[in-house]
Amino acid sequence: VGTTRQITEQPLEVPLSATTQSNYSLTFDANATYETRTATVDNKTVSYRAYENIPYVANPVDVNYQYMNIYIPEDYFQNKKVGKYDAKTAPIFLPNSVGGYMPSTAAIPGKSLEGGTDASTYALFRGYVVAAPATRGRTNKNETTGEYYGKAPAVIVDLQAAVAYLHSNDSRMPGDATKIISNGTSAGGAVSLLLGATGNHSDYRPYLNALGAADASTDIFAVVAFCPITDLDAADMAYEWNYHDVTTYKKSMMGRGMVPLAQTGSGESSATKGQLPTADMGNTPTEQAPMAVATTSTPSMDGNALSTNTSRNNSANMITLSDSDISYSYMLKAQYTDYINDLKLKDSNGKTLTLNSDGTGSFMDYVKSYIIAAANRAASEGTDISSADFLIKDANGTITDVDWKAYNAHVSRSKAPGAFDSRANDAGENNLFGTTKKDYEHFTVNGALFDTTDISATGPAIANHHIIKMMNPMNYLGNTGATNAKYYYIRYGTADSNTSISIPIVVGTKAQNLGYSVNMETPWEIGHRGDYNLEEMFDWMDNSVS
Ligand code: DHB
Repeated sequence: VGTTRQITEQPLEVPLSATTQSNYSLTFDANATYETRTATVDNKTVSYRAYENIPYVANPVDVNYQYMNIYIPEDYFQNKKVGKYDAKTAPIFLPNSVGGYMPSTAAIPGKSLEGGTDASTYALFRGYVVAAPATRGRTNKNETTGEYYGKAPAVIVDLQAAVAYLHSNDSRMPGDATKIISNGTSAGGAVSLLLGATGNHSDYRPYLNALGAADASTDIFAVVAFCPITDLDAADMAYEWNYHDVTTYKKSMMGRGMVPLAQTGSGESSATKGQLPTADMGNTPTEQAPMAVATTSTPSMDGNALSTNTSRNNSANMITLSDSDISYSYMLKAQYTDYINDLKLKDSNGKTLTLNSDGTGSFMDYVKSYIIAAANRAASEGTDISSADFLIKDANGTITDVDWKAYNAHVSRSKAPGAFDSRANDAGENNLFGTTKKDYEHFTVNGALFDTTDISATGPAIANHHIIKMMNPMNYLGNTGATNAKYYYIRYGTADSNTSISIPIVVGTKAQNLGYSVNMETPWEIGHRGDYNLEEMFDWMDNSVS
């Protein structure tokens, strides 16, 4: 007779609200203080107004993370056009800076990590209005009370609040709030998808109300998502479906004790941010203006900058999985078959995608077809792909298949089984699902049941199911209570092992099956990074809005 293990679910906490009522105005005032700046792209100079540090909720829990920067081409104030857009028609580009589900400060147009034009600058050049939100994140802690205030679902609530601000100010601000396009990379890509999926859903309203968010819609037009670390409920299973046969890995440093690196993604660091709103700014705090966030960072999970082309090129030692890890991997991998078969996803011909008990099947072929398409595109653009020994070719040299084991060995594992909900309850995602008082928590039944820490006193525990639900776009795509974005641009590089390549493909395919327009590719040998090929991305955006 076995014993039954009860999993204790965390209670649903009351939505966090500010401890002091600050009552920031949520009315955008174009005549308020701004700075005029210029940027040069392709030898053309664009002049734009910078309205920075604008609180997007009336009563933030922490205004250092609940504000946005708004950048508007100067031409829109002179009744001029930028390209085909004018002040009424310009789409609004909404780049989040979320990395690692950490707190994030708002983007400032500048240089990309590689020294080129970043997405915000390029957006202005293409005539977009830029609204760049900061967000709370998993490590935010009130040092007085000791309570955490950036755990799930804070990040998505903040992004929705920023969107509500834009909708409520649509008539006062250049740009068309019915054409908001969200952009993000990694955890930022995940919350970009989540924002697109969850528009106007009532689950988030109590959280928005508690912060004094604008009473306006929260739906967006389109989603751009690079390497989204999403569908966290299924991500552990998916990871083992890929990497079951890879029994060594380089440790990811995204868990406990991770030290955020300074944000290096923008040419101007956060420290050079402009002045805070003053009393004549319209969007004026009635008491205290937000403090500049000089030292906050947007790290990637492993401390590598998001925009480098290698995912795990540090010199950390290879770790060999234990027998217990391998058994756990086996179980997770087997469960992925059920997960995929339950989804009843279809390919573009309407054929249902399934997996067999050994993990092979039409869904695997479908994922491989993305890898093959990426190889073919790279080859057609002049990239030498001959060293990719995992590509199987026929006598004519046509790629016919991918050697799955060899492909995954090539990409290489960067996380142990329980890649996101770690059995030691110490992954970054465990940190995301903590409560105001508990820093780390499981969010899958597997993670809770197979916990390896000493839980003899308490038994296994799991985050609140409602909170877990609110962090996964799969729960809102096609949900009649949500206004889903209708356009999706999804990229996940074939060399990225931060999650399973199937994770973005599952979310994108679900959106496609709902009839939405989905542009999804897995670019050849690209690692954990985003905002590459800006021209292609903005061409897609232009086409989507027209
Ligand atoms: C990120 C990377 C990860 O490996 C992860 O698990 C979550 C987030 C990131 O870079 O944002």
